[in-house]
Amino acid sequence: MKIRFADSRPQGDYALVVPVVGKDRSSLSLLGTSRPEIEATLDRQRFEGESASVSEQFIADNGSVRRLLVVGVGKAGTGAEAAEKLGGTAAARLQTSGEKIAVIDLSGGNYDADASARVALGAALRSWRYDRYRTKLKDNQKPTLEEVVVVGGGAGAGERYTERWAAVVEGVSLTRELVTEPANIIYPESFVERVRKSLDGTGVELEVLDRAAMEKLGMGALLGVAQGSVREARLLILRWNGGGQGGQPIAFVGKGVTFDTGGISIKPAAGMEAMKWDMGGAGAVVGAMKALALRKAKANIVGICGLVENMPGGNAQRPGDVVTTMSGQTVEVINTDAEGRLVLGDAITYVQRNFKPGTIIDLATLTGAILISLGHEWAGLFSNDEELARNLQKAGEQSGDKLWRMPLAESFDRLIDSPIADMKNVGPREGGSITAAQFIQRFVENGVKWAHVDMAGKAWTDKPGATYDKGATGFGVRLLDQYVADVLEK
Ligand code: BES
Ligand code: MN
Ligand code: ZN
Repeated sequence: MKIRFADSRPQGDYALVVPVVGKDRSSLSLLGTSRPEIEATLDRQRFEGESASVSEQFIADNGSVRRLLVVGVGKAGTGAEAAEKLGGTAAARLQTSGEKIAVIDLSGGNYDADASARVALGAALRSWRYDRYRTKLKDNQKPTLEEVVVVGGGAGAGERYTERWAAVVEGVSLTRELVTEPANIIYPESFVERVRKSLDGTGVELEVLDRAAMEKLGMGALLGVAQGSVREARLLILRWNGGGQGGQPIAFVGKGVTFDTGGISIKPAAGMEAMKWDMGGAGAVVGAMKALALRKAKANIVGICGLVENMPGGNAQRPGDVVTTMSGQTVEVINTDAEGRLVLGDAITYVQRNFKPGTIIDLATLTGAILISLGHEWAGLFSNDEELARNLQKAGEQSGDKLWRMPLAESFDRLIDSPIADMKNVGPREGGSITAAQFIQRFVENGVKWAHVDMAGKAWTDKPGATYDKGATGFGVRLLDQYVADVLEK
């Protein structure tokens, strides 16, 4: 879908979208002489301008009929979040409506450049869909909306959109695509190839380690997870050097389990198909790298994806196996379904040895327990550094990828001591997300600032939101983009 900014409404056919701030209908003045009938209709519909409420009407316009959407933005009005919701609401309503063009007229409200750009961002993000495998869509189920024109936004809105948000839309779209694809299509090798194509021309440098290379490095934990699958593991390394020479890079590390059956500690059948999105952390890292490269972020960033498929099989690792990690530490694998931490441990060692990052942020669909703690609204944040945690939470607020801080403590760390090895890969059921984080922390070297985002409740959704439909959300891309903008580009 195309996004365009204009000073005035175009000629011809389009659906007109006008925002209204709660019960204050002053923005409707732009409707001219038809305003009284439109307001009468709003009254009859009991329209009160609440956030994301929509009145759909057809109005006479120059001898023809025009579709009008009056969209409530609530009392919050023109803040960034409300702006995105406005664009998203309009796009969702019009996507398969038969309309080709939506004109969102902001001239009756107080939308500055960024708020106007965010209206477009919301529309672009909300209209993403993936119809690749739908061969029997009826004509009236197919998308018709081709273009969203934002009219009357603040000066510089168009520039703001192209410089920042168009890149973010590309990144989020890539992540959603990777997360949506089933595991027979996206497995470690094909993940790498899909990303290679998608990042071509962006300036992101790409390096790939295969099994033999990882064996040489001693990445026994990551390879132990992969050994039950006929799909070979990969470590994908992405580099964006937009920050000039010198300075420690920041590292983003993603869990990329392209399918998680649980392995020999196999998961129950019901709902197992969801585990195709167990690579959502890696998907977010890749999407963020794309967004940051496209907008030429002034920062040096390494993105690492640990890519494996967790399968049972004759060669799969067994509960009780002891593996040696790249760090030299040994792990007793009590439960083969606690595989994400095994992958992350080696990926984190690799990035520290090779790139000496000052800060590491890992993202992972790591534990079912985080869903019990936080549901689907917040991802869990664990960190060994107060400032990093604060900045990430702020980026979360601003981007909508919200984070809730969770504790780390020595007492939890004791729970993963093993009688036979340096540690075991699971603790007790209680505090399961915390012991998982403690496990990862054992791979973080002295002096490195580290944050872990457990996004198990966020990669996928069963109910549509302001900027996404049911399905893959693209969680994490905007969080990382915002963090880079707020902290590294300052
Ligand atoms: N990928 C899962 C986490 C998960 C579970 C995400 C449910 C979304 C929904 C992870 O690899 C896993 O299986 N974790 C186990 C850990 C347990 C064996 C200690 C879990 O959470 O049950
Ligand atoms: Mn698992
Ligand atoms: Zn998993």
